[in-house]
Amino acid sequence: MEKTIDNIKKEIKNFNPKDYYDLEKLRIKFLGKKKGMITLLFKELKKFTLHEKKIFGKIINELKKEIQEKIEIFSLKHKCFKNKEEKLNFDPSSPGKFIEIGSMHPISIIKNRIIEIFIKIGFSYVDGPEIEDDWHNFTALNIPTDHPSREMQDTFFLYKNPDILLRTHTSSVQIRYMKKHHPPFRILSIGKVYRNETVSSHSNFMFHQAEGFYIDKKVSFSDLKQTIFYLINSIFGKQVKIRFRPSYFPFTEPSAEVDIYSSSNGWLEVMGCGMIDPNVLKNVDIDSEIHSGFAFGIGIERLALMIYNIKDIRIYFNNDIRFLEQFKSEF
Ligand code: DAH
Repeated sequence: MEKTIDNIKKEIKNFNPKDYYDLEKLRIKFLGKKKGMITLLFKELKKFTLHEKKIFGKIINELKKEIQEKIEIFSLKHKCFKNKEEKLNFDPSSPGKFIEIGSMHPISIIKNRIIEIFIKIGFSYVDGPEIEDDWHNFTALNIPTDHPSREMQDTFFLYKNPDILLRTHTSSVQIRYMKKHHPPFRILSIGKVYRNETVSSHSNFMFHQAEGFYIDKKVSFSDLKQTIFYLINSIFGKQVKIRFRPSYFPFTEPSAEVDIYSSSNGWLEVMGCGMIDPNVLKNVDIDSEIHSGFAFGIGIERLALMIYNIKDIRIYFNNDIRFLEQFKSEF
């Protein structure tokens, strides 16, 4: 075996095929599936002890890699032409074919940006299902059956009894995660949510939300505020005007909505947030005497309006290439 290895080493040192056919001959000689020298070496290896196999296996693999690299280099040099004419007509100086490069959708760009920002402050990213049951989407979030607050989110039901639906918000991920893990934790989740809102500014039945929640001992509203300031300022890369407005959500107490100011859009509401309601913690077996937490839900389309100075929210899903190709430089 050592002798064969030495021979191969010598041969590849002088590896210099004249043309494509010569190169192909050499390829078969070394790497041919049945009688290639490297192939035969691997076959011979089977007879060796485990220790020898390790040593020789490594050497043979390195040789194989070296040969493959050489073949690749020479195959560029000896490009294979179908006939003489093609060879004569080949003009290496002619410009290449232009290949259109795609771009990421603005919603995906913002999504990745938000993940990046939260990972830096110790949040972990999780996903949740878009098809949910009533308990995770409503009941466990302190929205009992027949409670008027269900009216806030006109729902697409897939089945009734048991009720299976398209999640109306990403807050259901809170329940899924909290049910399985013990605090402390800092979690972020982003995805599609579905509501029957033909007349609202969402323009269609689907939009994206980012959900964040943090549970530990002594988490307070000031932690929530600082986290939101950090997020918004990081996204815009500068200090922006933010205001917290008192609001109502069944799953937080107290609750607030956050507006951002821009000269083109004025004040625009971009998220809901608050301190997680003790009833919600009880539903997932977390003791609210010991732990507290905050949560927030951000509308990604809305946020992107402010970032990109977009006027009409319907533009995201019209598939107008003139709009979409403007995001090419983003990655
Ligand atoms: N789930 C709410 C919605 O879709 C948004 C929201 C508000 C999420 C407050 C939260 C929160 O986590 O704390 O309208």
